[in-house]
Amino acid sequence: MAQQKKKHEFLSFPVYLLGGFFLLVLISPAIAAPANSCKYLMENKCLDCHFETRICQKIAKNKGKRSWKRTIKSMIRHGAELTPDEQTTLVGCFIDRDPEILSFCGMK
Ligand code: HEC
Repeated sequence: MAQQKKKHEFLSFPVYLLGGFFLLVLISPAIAAPANSCKYLMENKCLDCHFETRICQKIAKNKGKRSWKRTIKSMIRHGAELTPDEQTTLVGCFIDRDPEILSFCGMK
């Protein structure tokens, strides 16, 4: 009887291992899309108030860094929540025409 119990405990070990593996599979997309990627920032910080068309139109006009900085400051006055780092990143995304953002805008 005691031997049977031991066998059962031994078998459960690979089950935990498998569980851990699936957990990793679930978590890895979150790691693959870092919280400061251009697309992540735009989706999470800009699209609460208006559609991306507003932003895409401006990207199409190829406005410079100053203009984007002004726009983002103005969005913050409207209530957008962005850290100074995120603002700098996003301005970079828009003036460098980040491929992810372009494809998001259907401008690829
Ligand atoms: C709290 C709401 C809010 C958030 C968040 C927000 N916006 Fe806006 N946005 C507005 C409003 C309101 C207008 C229209 C008024 C205006 O033109 O200033 C606007 C207009 C715009 C325009 C067109 C006017 C212009 O200055 O060219 C652009 C481009 C824009 N937003 C980009 C962005 C970007 C990029 C982000 C993310 C960093 C963002 N918005 C986040 C509220 C918001």
